[in-house]
Amino acid sequence: MASIGLKLDAGYLKPAAPQTEILQYQQSITAAHDQLFSGAGLGADFRGWLNPDVLAPKSLLTEIQTTARELQERSDALVVIGIGGSYLGARAVIEALARDDGKPVYFAGHNISADFHSRLMRQLAGKRVAVNVISKSGTTTEPAIAFRIFQELVEKNAGAAEAAKLIVATTDAHKGALLKLATDRGYKRFVVPDDVGGRYSVLSPVGLLPIAYGGVDISALVSGAATCAEACASTDLQKNPAYFYAAARNTLYDKGYNVEVLSHFEPRLHYVAEWWKQLYGESEGKDHKALFPASIDLTADLHSMGQYMQQGRRFLTETFVIVEEGEPELVVPETQENLDGLNYLAGRSLSEVNHEAYRATALAHWEGGVPNSTVLLKRLDARHLGALLYFFERACAVSGYLRRLNPFDQPGVEAYKNHMFALLGKPGFEEKTAEIRRKVESSGVESSIIFG
Ligand code: PA5
Repeated sequence: MASIGLKLDAGYLKPAAPQTEILQYQQSITAAHDQLFSGAGLGADFRGWLNPDVLAPKSLLTEIQTTARELQERSDALVVIGIGGSYLGARAVIEALARDDGKPVYFAGHNISADFHSRLMRQLAGKRVAVNVISKSGTTTEPAIAFRIFQELVEKNAGAAEAAKLIVATTDAHKGALLKLATDRGYKRFVVPDDVGGRYSVLSPVGLLPIAYGGVDISALVSGAATCAEACASTDLQKNPAYFYAAARNTLYDKGYNVEVLSHFEPRLHYVAEWWKQLYGESEGKDHKALFPASIDLTADLHSMGQYMQQGRRFLTETFVIVEEGEPELVVPETQENLDGLNYLAGRSLSEVNHEAYRATALAHWEGGVPNSTVLLKRLDARHLGALLYFFERACAVSGYLRRLNPFDQPGVEAYKNHMFALLGKPGFEEKTAEIRRKVESSGVESSIIFG
């Protein structure tokens, strides 16, 4: 996949997962690929992300860019309201690539914290605020509450007529409360395609509008993903890095490696790891199966979780995401006293030192019993990040099929919602309310011993 600047280095997977064993997945991979492309697999109605050019054609990109520009002109900041797949993709790309001199993008509605939302409102005081509310169902509690708050704020500050130009709703084309509200108020609308689930939606209007507002080149992002899709066309494990990655992580899982840790050395990739965790956690974490996806930020976490990685329980596998070409300008300064003994590094770039830290860590973790592989990105820009996002999506769908799972649904998310609705007394949940309250009072937190 050299042409798109994304490589997979699998050298440290052996002896836990030698290539010969990974290649034994070939037949299953071919079957999973066929299911994915023929529509014979589970959740086949949600494959609209497979072809990035079709998901985000040029006409849509132009419409999104125009809307983003208009919003930028009218506002000082954008608040993106959404949760799960309706915000993590945008946040991942914006935190990784947004220009320092661009207009800020804030995120709300991914929790129900009064403290969080009050602080955000204080931060935005005196600013012209635009809002992009994103919810496919249009009924998710967290963003719906946040939207009430920010809709009120924008209407109070700008007046109802201007508010209608400052608020954009991204939701289902045909149904849902948000669709009705947006239509009634005359908000600009973008569609969450019927055939794309939240966590695969970053390259649809769900992610692209906030990303464009943040000043990132969305055409380059989509084109990087499309190139990656082409590079992942082969069913041959040795020619398709996404499939090799899917087969390798499943080989390790078969051998009792239950946790996959995504590690990176660039703080700007923190939310890419958060997005990755949602993608794999929600896609595969069902039927009591699959690798638990975790992440660490390096080198910071080498001084905390690094101890466990090196010497804790051996059920960990690790995937590094490494950016090959960093900023060359910043170098380690020389000092006359050399009290810290670091003059041997003087004049060398921080990027070079950071890269050696990665190479040292990958070797140390491997020696400590953590099989690891590395996704190498040539540069951290829109094109390469688009390729990376698609690489993980494609691998995730196939990995789910290898485990005979539906990688596109999330039935487990409903359990907490139903209990919460019952506890909050949502109409229609009356019978459940008494039952859930009884359960909480007799068996949960409230019946435990409380000290202090
Ligand atoms: O990946 C998913 O489908 C979920 O994480 C959803 O995106 C999340 O639950 C938010 O749902 P909605 O967009 O309907 O508000």
